Order: sequence, then C-alpha cells, then structure tokens
Amino acid sequence: MTTLLQSDVPGARLVRRGKVRDVYEAGGDRLVLVASDRLSAFDVVFPTPIPDKGRVLTQLSNFWFARLASIVPNHLVATDLAQFPPAFRGGNAPALEGRSVLVKRCERIDIECVARGYISGSAWTEYKALGSVAGETLPASLQESAKLDEPIFTPATKAESGHDENISRRRLAAVVGSELARDLEQMTLALYRAAHAYAQGRGLILADTKFEFGFHDGQLTLIDEALTPDSSRYWDAGKYKPGATPPSYDKQYVRDFLVRSGWNKEPPAPALPDDVVAGTQQRYLECYEQLVGKPL
Ligand SMILES: Nc1ncnc2c1ncn2[C@@H]1O[C@H](COP(=O)(O)OP(=O)(O)O)[C@@H](O)[C@H]1O
Ligand SMILES: [Mg+2]
Repeated sequence: MTTLLQSDVPGARLVRRGKVRDVYEAGGDRLVLVASDRLSAFDVVFPTPIPDKGRVLTQLSNFWFARLASIVPNHLVATDLAQFPPAFRGGNAPALEGRSVLVKRCERIDIECVARGYISGSAWTEYKALGSVAGETLPASLQESAKLDEPIFTPATKAESGHDENISRRRLAAVVGSELARDLEQMTLALYRAAHAYAQGRGLILADTKFEFGFHDGQLTLIDEALTPDSSRYWDAGKYKPGATPPSYDKQYVRDFLVRSGWNKEPPAPALPDDVVAGTQQRYLECYEQLVGKPL
C-alpha cells in the first residue's frame, strides 16, 4: 500500500489542503476528500507520514457514517473510485484507493461540535483552574478522567489558522442563532451517546469527540470525518480508572513523545523517529480493528 504525504491529481482542481485531507472539486456540488498520511499535533503538520493513517481515518469514518445515518444525514456519496470522476481513476487510483471519498459539498458551519462524556484534555485543564468546562460549572471534586453524569456539549470556533477557541453555548446561540445552536447540540449529543454505547460493547471508552456539520440543500448534514482517533479520544475500557489518564488510541502517544523531546511546538515540526512512527501506526490500526471487529 502507498504511503501518501500529499496527493497530486492532475486534471482535478484542488480546493484546499487541510492539515490531513486534500480537497478537490468533483463536478457540480461534489467534492473528493483524500485523507493523506499526514499527522498534525499541537496544530502543526509533521514532515513524517504515518503509514495506513489515511486509510484508517477514511474507512473508520465510513463505518461510523453508515452506523449513524439514522441519527443524522451525512455527506457521503461514494467510496468506490469507479464512481468518482475520471481524473481520480486510472493512473491515480493506486495512491487514492481506500483513502478517498466522493461527498456532497456542504456550506460548512464554522463550529467544532464537541461532546464530552469524561473530563480530560483541555476540559480537565479548565476544570482544574476554574471548576467549569466551556464556562459551565461542574460538580466539585471530580477526578481526572472521571465520567460525567451526562455528556456535555462544548462547542469551539473553527479557526482558519491557529488554535480553536472554546465558546459558551450562549455565545454559540449568538453566532449561529438559537434554533441551529439547539439542533447542533442535540445532534452532537445523540451521535456521542450512540457511538459511546457501541464502543463500550467493543471494549473501548469514547471519552470525547468532535463533529463538523454543514448544510446541503437546506439539510443539516454531518461532514468531514466521524469518530476517528484524530477527532476522538478513545480509551481501553479495561485500563480505565478515574484519577489518571488511561492509555489512549489518539495522538496522545505522539504528544507525549513531543513533550519529552523538548520541541517548542512552533513550526517547523521535527521529523518523527521510526519507533514513534511505528507505535503511532500500530495504535491507529488497533483502534480500527477493535471498533470494526476485523483488521483494515
Ligand atoms: N462535505 C463537505 N463540504 C464542505 N467542506 C467539507 C466537507 N467535508 C469536509 N470539509 C472540509 O474539508 C477540509 C478537510 O480537511 P482537513 O484536513 O480535515 O482540515 P482541517 O485542517 O480543518 O482539519 C476541512 O476544512 C473540512 O471542514
Ligand atoms: Mg479536519
């Protein structure tokens, strides 16, 4: 299988390169998203690709889109290159196979819709300092990684560059209108609950996750990716114990390495050593296999 740092599709117009995905026009109101093997951490993209990462992200998203379609419509049109425009077939196919999707081009809502069922990451940092998460007060004396009584919705603005910023639900309502704010919250929490229940049956805890939504023909639609290790914090249920950070399948492993390495988190990002690349690849593949029930 090809490892891909950056796609090149002669004959297709590149709309943008995201941190991970290359986005192409695909005629009419269609886009093709190609998930590369790029890894970003602390909002900086690394020069070293992680083999299999793009295929894991794409195929895990497709798995979840199918499972959750009854809760909210999603952008997926086709996953088989045979149904893509000609520029994406033929000679380009080997590099794109298994990592590309044909989707409905949506008018994106520039909000990261985050659901949290456990208190970790930036939420733990805020709680320790202020006793609140996304501006809302939580019960006192929660331990790190504790399960919350009910999952909470903590939206953030989707910054074009730089770091996303958490905003309160009230601020969200002011930005997108109270009706859409309510719909985004309901959908995000419904998706989280369904995915959390499924993952638990497969030995994983879905601690938190992030969704993006857009409009297609007036229809609120789930876009981008769904419930991948890039957008979610998954923990091994067997090793979960409140009071500490459980081993996870997300990028925490790389982040830990980077903190140890002393990198100042400013670009350019350093190359990743072989063992860190292999360890990261392993975690992505394991996460896929554990959730889907078969290897990629
Ligand atoms: N169906 C869609 N319609 C419009 N934009 C989309 C759709 N699906 C994904 N996108 C956008 O395409 C880009 C995908 O690239 P990605 O690497 O995930 O970006 P980012 O660096 O923002 O995480 C994102 O900007 C995402 O919001
Ligand atoms: Mg993204």
